Amino acid sequence: MGNLKSVALLLLFTFFVLHLPFVESDWFINYHIHVTNDLPLLNSPPNQPNLFLHCKSKKKDLGERPMVKGQDYTWDTKVNFWRTTLFFCRASWVGRKTIRFDAFVADRDEMTCRHYHNSCMWSVREKGIYFSKNNATWGNMYPW
Ligand SMILES: *[C@@H]1O[C@H](CO)[C@@H](O)[C@H](O)[C@H]1NC(C)=O
Repeated sequence: MGNLKSVALLLLFTFFVLHLPFVESDWFINYHIHVTNDLPLLNSPPNQPNLFLHCKSKKKDLGERPMVKGQDYTWDTKVNFWRTTLFFCRASWVGRKTIRFDAFVADRDEMTCRHYHNSCMWSVREKGIYFSKNNATWGNMYPW
């Protein structure tokens, strides 16, 4: 009986050691989501917010925030067990346009966002909402 217990323990231990890299890389990653206001200052004075951003998931409301040019709206999230984690935002360019976009969709973004410090980077610009996985090249994913 004692032997069987040791074997069982050894198997359990081996299982965990073998799965550790998987567990660490997949389930415990903290993703950093950034949404930066890179809108041009057209009629609004520099210190006046020209963008209102409101991001949330089904479970968590991050609140609406007025944003001046250059300001960053950021939060962290992990991917849930079912990989259904979803954060979406509403961006309102004051007096101009409003759009809703998905800022983090687990099965769309988790691999992509691992390229650069586990960060998903969004930039609100004159032509739409841009995404970058490396903070260098940007693509317009949600034109206004
Ligand atoms: C992206 O690059 C800019 C400078 O070009 C820097 O200010 C910013 O912190 C970077 N963002 C991240 C998430 O590292």
